[in-house]
Amino acid sequence: MDAPRYTRVAMLLHWLIALCLVGQFVLGWYLESIPRGVPDRSYFVNIHKSTGMLIGLLILARIGWRLTHRPPALPRSIPTWQQKAASTTHFLLYFFMLMLPLTGYIASNFSKWGVKFFNTIEMPPWGVEDKAIYAFFNQLHGLISWILLCLIILHVLAAVSHLVSGHREVIHRMLPGSSSGR
Ligand code: HEM
Ligand code: HEM
Repeated sequence: MDAPRYTRVAMLLHWLIALCLVGQFVLGWYLESIPRGVPDRSYFVNIHKSTGMLIGLLILARIGWRLTHRPPALPRSIPTWQQKAASTTHFLLYFFMLMLPLTGYIASNFSKWGVKFFNTIEMPPWGVEDKAIYAFFNQLHGLISWILLCLIILHVLAAVSHLVSGHREVIHRMLPGSSSGR
């Protein structure tokens, strides 16, 4: 019998969000390289905010799917400490994946700019203009981006270590192919 695998929806969301996050990180770092006051900056900031909000919705959908669909059990050959490390890392990945767009979104609503969705639809801020609150959530957003990046690197290293240690089935659980359910 084939080893149990993630559902197709879980795989699709995993890889789609992973791809989107890579692009969103690059865009975030690019923003930091544009000097403040340059008109183009607000164009790119609003693109980053808009794509970030859409990715946030995808992450919410993913968490919803995860809460209603139990993941397949890991093979018994994986030591208990590694199983515990995997579930802790996965929990932290979900937590910081959600916190990242949330802190960016909250920060934006405490500045006078709010969000101009894809530079076309004005979304006026629901918060007051407050530089201290804005700076707090903005800095938290930057800090969380680094925490998430470290977790992603750890996660990818763990996946690669399963490959080299002969536990290919762990990677196959998250790769499209035959025999996964919906
Ligand atoms: C932005 C990048 C990524 C994020 C945020 C991410 C996040 C996650 C999360 C949260 C899970 C847990 C799924 C669950 O049980 O609910 C997971 C599983 C998994 N990820 Fe990623 N992932 C990323 C990139 C990658 C990459 C590049 C690889 C391959 C090298 C990979 C391989 C896997 C595998 C094999 C599993 C299943 C682990 C298991 O069966 O326990 N991921 N990922
Ligand atoms: C998953 C989604 C997101 C990712 C991966 C992400 C990532 C990043 C990164 C890496 C930076 C640069 C941080 C630094 O080096 O200090 C950044 C900056 C920023 N992000 Fe995000 N972000 C996301 C979502 C959002 C959302 C939803 C908003 C607002 C609605 C937002 C607003 C901002 C702002 C305002 C900045 C700072 C730009 C500046 O320096 O003025 N981000 N983001």
